[in-house]
Amino acid sequence: MKPAHAQADPQQEPESLNACRRCTLWRDATHAVPGAGSARAALMLVGEQPGDSEDRAGLPFVGPAGALLDAVLAEAGVQRKDVYVTNAVKHFKWELRGKRRLHKTPAQREVEACAYWLEGELAQVRPKVVVALGATALRALLHDPTARLKVQMEQKQPARVGDFLVVATWHPSYVLRAPSAEAREAARAHMVTALRRAHALAEKR
Ligand code: URA
Repeated sequence: MKPAHAQADPQQEPESLNACRRCTLWRDATHAVPGAGSARAALMLVGEQPGDSEDRAGLPFVGPAGALLDAVLAEAGVQRKDVYVTNAVKHFKWELRGKRRLHKTPAQREVEACAYWLEGELAQVRPKVVVALGATALRALLHDPTARLKVQMEQKQPARVGDFLVVATWHPSYVLRAPSAEAREAARAHMVTALRRAHALAEKR
């Protein structure tokens, strides 16, 4: 999906996501991972960046975080085929620990470089509601690198960005890594409530 807001410089305006050199993350990645799902979805979900499984498959949220996301979507009564799922950053950023490729949080400059693709997806899909899964997605969507996930999660009203609303919740990996069963259950419950709310808002508007 090539964004409508193209610029003249070929470095800045890659032919395709796989040809993107707007930052250096492509060097260590197997695939660029574009968004997937319903091309005119009223509801879009945005995560941080592909993980190890997504990098190998070239598809978003197909690994352990994806399994958790599928479970909470089902609990919230949302069908994954009806939504569009993507990430703020399209290449897997990782470091080797032993034999494992461990996730590294993308830098702000990488999030900003990749905003070109996220903005393109938003312009094409034109969702009514976007769920920010975690702080990186929230900051990318609000164009605010200082935005705080917990502060946004506590707001009574979703944020408005242009034509869409932003509902914030935890990233599925946060639920998977929660330090106790209690914390895990609370984070998961927040995700279910946020997805249900986002779905209702998307249906209504
Ligand atoms: N985590 C993300 O943020 N996105 C994915 O696609 C997978 C894991």
